[in-house]
Amino acid sequence: MKRAFVIGHPIGHSRSPLIHRSWLADLGIAGSYDAIDVEEAALPAFFDRLRTGEFAGGNVTIPHKQAVVTLCDVVEPLATRIGAVNTLVVDNGKVTGSNTDYLGFLGNLDQRAPGWDRGLTDAIVLGAGGAARAVLVALAERGVPAIQILNRTAATANALAAELPGPFTAHSLDAFASLAPRAGLVVNTTSVGMHGSSFPDLPLNLLPPGAIVTDIVYVPLRTPLLLAAEALGLTTIDGLGMLLHQAVPGFTAWFGVQPNVTPALRTLIEATL
Ligand code: ATR
Repeated sequence: MKRAFVIGHPIGHSRSPLIHRSWLADLGIAGSYDAIDVEEAALPAFFDRLRTGEFAGGNVTIPHKQAVVTLCDVVEPLATRIGAVNTLVVDNGKVTGSNTDYLGFLGNLDQRAPGWDRGLTDAIVLGAGGAARAVLVALAERGVPAIQILNRTAATANALAAELPGPFTAHSLDAFASLAPRAGLVVNTTSVGMHGSSFPDLPLNLLPPGAIVTDIVYVPLRTPLLLAAEALGLTTIDGLGMLLHQAVPGFTAWFGVQPNVTPALRTLIEATL
């Protein structure tokens, strides 16, 4: 029986076991997927355990996505560029790390707004932290010609734009008003929106009609940002789909079957939020 896991600290909040166990059951695969609480100091020992072949692989979540990069035997180039690993595959005593958050981000948009990138010339990404990196690399990989990074601390956005290869320009949040009229896509990668918090001054009304606003926060599912965009008649996409889609490549690698992100799976996870 193939076994997989998610490690983090704490780990109780993770929805990954529900997602993977639901696929295992639906596909009739005799496998397991468990949440394991691993503290940072215990990560090297956990990787030694992985090399024994006990698990086919697993996921890495907060706060270990950056720390595990140097523990992997092989790191896929895009994960190196993003600077974070969220998926591990064990083969022949070697642990390969990849980042599927960027695929999750793209998979969610592709499913919910097919053709979203057609004719898209300008995107605004709010935030310049760890979560922003996967989104920025995804948008650059997809060929979006101009990507504006807006952050509360402009210096952090500057450093990120200078470090990552891609069509990135850095600004502070107050640049939103001047950039919005050209932006066909707005992505929130900050923690703003969790627990109902919101950006005090973000003139969404200056976005062109048909612009898409998406959030990677999924608790609550409908953040104040998405509600405000919806009230203006803009297209909105919540962050739950990114969580579901990032799980697909790992499951496929460990269990050998590509699962589907279905409305039923969404409903199952939504009920726990
Ligand atoms: P993560 O790894 O989840 O992205 P992070 O690296 O701490 O977490 O980044 C959090 C992001 O949310 C940052 O861009 C942060 O802005 P700063 O660089 O100015 O700190 C942004 N952020 C957090 N709280 C915010 C708030 N109340 N208003 C605006 N931006 C906020």
